[in-house]
Amino acid sequence: MQKENLVSGMRSTGKLHLGHYMGVITNWVKLQEDYNCFYFVADWHALTTKFDKTETLKQDKIDVVLDWLACGIDPDKSTIYFQSKVLQIAELHLLLSMITPNNWVERDPTLKDMVKILKNKDDDTSSNMPQMSYGLLGYPVLMSADIMAVNGAVVPVGNDQLAHLEITRDIARRFNNIYNTQLFNEPKPKLTEIPLLCGIDGQKMGKSFHNDIKISDTEEDTSKKIMQCITDRSRARKNDPGHPEQCEVAFKYYTVFADKNTVKQVECECREGKRGCMDCKKQLGKIINEKFAPIRDKRKELEADTDRVYDIISEGSKKAASEAEKVLQKVREAVNI
Ligand code: TRP
Ligand code: SF4
Repeated sequence: MQKENLVSGMRSTGKLHLGHYMGVITNWVKLQEDYNCFYFVADWHALTTKFDKTETLKQDKIDVVLDWLACGIDPDKSTIYFQSKVLQIAELHLLLSMITPNNWVERDPTLKDMVKILKNKDDDTSSNMPQMSYGLLGYPVLMSADIMAVNGAVVPVGNDQLAHLEITRDIARRFNNIYNTQLFNEPKPKLTEIPLLCGIDGQKMGKSFHNDIKISDTEEDTSKKIMQCITDRSRARKNDPGHPEQCEVAFKYYTVFADKNTVKQVECECREGKRGCMDCKKQLGKIINEKFAPIRDKRKELEADTDRVYDIISEGSKKAASEAEKVLQKVREAVNI
């Protein structure tokens, strides 16, 4: 049986962190076995909010791919590309924008959240200039074009992307209705069940919150960051009995990164006051560093040969473009353009 097409993208935010690794990338790596995967860097989407901060864009894009490859996204199994190298996506975005009612995108809750965040960042309160640009309003339409350009059947996303994907399904259905065709299927979301990994301060892990540990961090930096993690605050002395369930970050990380026996041992020793938080976090740093050592080695190897990485992306982009061209030929025909 032919494998279904699976599509997913990440905005070009630069070096990825352990939250990306646990929540998204390990999942993507597994999915490669069961689907025909299209993984791309959404650099146009990055412009919807960062159109005026493009100095680091080129580096950010390659950093994302370096992390993917180091973690096991395999160019022999998956198609890896830059969104902006597949011009058919832009053409499809334009055609889809013609059939998308404004209120479909205007009521997209994820988009509303993005605008709220943007507004909070904007200090110039005297300005009436709404932070919603024409391009940002089209965010879900562009995402639809990403998916539909390669006729994606399955889209692995987090909860926050479901609203966008619902619009994609609506757009696909509407296209089929208007142009009396069966060209598009309605892509199904595939939710990741892994809970989000918090940052070292216990809040959501994110680059802009300065609470993340990068996949590509050095062992030293990783250890330092782990030592900053908050632990059970009720504990004053090393021999006080601790409460792992109140150890919001360090113990949580143990449950994510350590094997079951180690977790059990930490839990017991903590409760019995036989384990100091400093030592406990030292050990945690070591465990995390050991886990990421092979990935970090691989990344260094790739960094030393970025020509090869650009070749991979260029090959992938060509492949994605040729898939998309097939779809677009049918689209143009259906639209009579
Ligand atoms: N909006 C997604 C995010 O921020 C990234 C993305 C862009 C995407 N296009 C996509 C995800 C198409 C899945 C399919 O995470
Ligand atoms: Fe957390 Fe470990 Fe300290 Fe217990 S000993 S509170 S698990 S850091």
